[in-house]
Amino acid sequence: MRVIITGGAGFIGSNLIHYLLKHRPEWELINLDALTYAGNLENLKACEGNPNYHFEHADIVDQDAMTRLFEEYKPDAIMHLAAESHVDRSILDPQSFVRTNVMGTQVLLNEAKKLGDSFRFLHVSTDEVYGSLGSTGFFTEDTPLAPNSPYSASKTGSDLLVRAANKTHGMDTIITRCSNNYGPYQFPEKLIPLMISNAMEDKQLPVYGDGKNVRDWLYVEDHCSALTTVLEKGKAGEVYNIGGNNEWFNIDIVKLILKSLGKSEELIKYVTDRPGHDRRYAIDASKLEKELGWEPSYTFEEGLPMTIDWYQDNVEWTNRIKTGKYTGYYEEQYGKRLNS
Ligand code: NAD
Ligand code: DAU
Repeated sequence: MRVIITGGAGFIGSNLIHYLLKHRPEWELINLDALTYAGNLENLKACEGNPNYHFEHADIVDQDAMTRLFEEYKPDAIMHLAAESHVDRSILDPQSFVRTNVMGTQVLLNEAKKLGDSFRFLHVSTDEVYGSLGSTGFFTEDTPLAPNSPYSASKTGSDLLVRAANKTHGMDTIITRCSNNYGPYQFPEKLIPLMISNAMEDKQLPVYGDGKNVRDWLYVEDHCSALTTVLEKGKAGEVYNIGGNNEWFNIDIVKLILKSLGKSEELIKYVTDRPGHDRRYAIDASKLEKELGWEPSYTFEEGLPMTIDWYQDNVEWTNRIKTGKYTGYYEEQYGKRLNS
């Protein structure tokens, strides 16, 4: 198997590359990443020198570059993770989300179409495309799409293009929709790493609104195992939800982090709510469990302490992001950066 992984220098992508090199050592992986602010090659230092791992610095919106790379590698499959992924940024700059998430996905579909029936396109999407739940119920694969942020609207657009490629051209495409991930290498703008990092530095912890929004958390390695299962066993044209059946109020997670670091709840600061803030996400992943036999390996009681430990053991990783030094690593290793 030769697999292109887009967005492999990001949070989930880099965890996926570590996971696959360990659990599918015979696979050849091509990490195709533009290295935006969210891409960090320091996440992948341990993979350098592995003959089954290649890095290509390229923008998925660049059709010529994609044509060249697809012709060069002749892959069997793509796991498409590259995206602008942060909701707050999408409120400030929706354009870059439409560019990468919508246009970039279509560019990749154009290349995938040329490779014919034997090529599989796994599109990594999100539960946010379903919108927001009230206090009861779950998102199933049949829940109508109702995105509320520019981020989730752009992901919905990409999902529909992937669906259309299957319906119109008979392409072998699959869509996954996962709930909130947490774990090592998550950029410290997202809730859990931001709160851990601020608490460690005795800085205030900004909680949006009343802190009673609910998210359904899954340890990132479990997302990686689910994506591998879907790539290997999923049915063309299908959608699979991925989740850990693990709902938490934001404020309770923040308090757990403070307690585990021995810090005071006085660090909590309630701040103005995120516009259009989805109230609750909860995933029904029973289709994936029953049809493909996947189940998560980590409980939150295991995964959260592992994650807090990781950020405590890797303070320098977070510091290099906060000071901007991490962007220099590419040039030290590979020479001048492409414009992206
Ligand atoms: P991330 O922001 O950490 O990483 C995104 C990666 O994509 C970065 O390495 C970035 O450099 C790269 N990228 C961005 N634009 C690009 C472009 N034009 N060309 C090539 N590369 C580009 O994101 P993440 O949290 O790892 O999420 C990965 C995927 O999983 C996304 O598609 C996201 O929608 C989806 N997802 C994320 C979560 C979550 O909780 N983080 C949950 C469900 C689904
Ligand atoms: O559900 C999957 C989605 O999860 C992914 O598709 C997205 O890429 C990923 O970013 C994530 O989106 P969220 O908006 O849920 O994640 P975030 O970490 O930004 O916020 C989690 C919750 O915490 C949300 O209710 C907003 C709140 N929050 C977040 C931040 C950054 C705060 O209260 N304070 C904060 O400073």
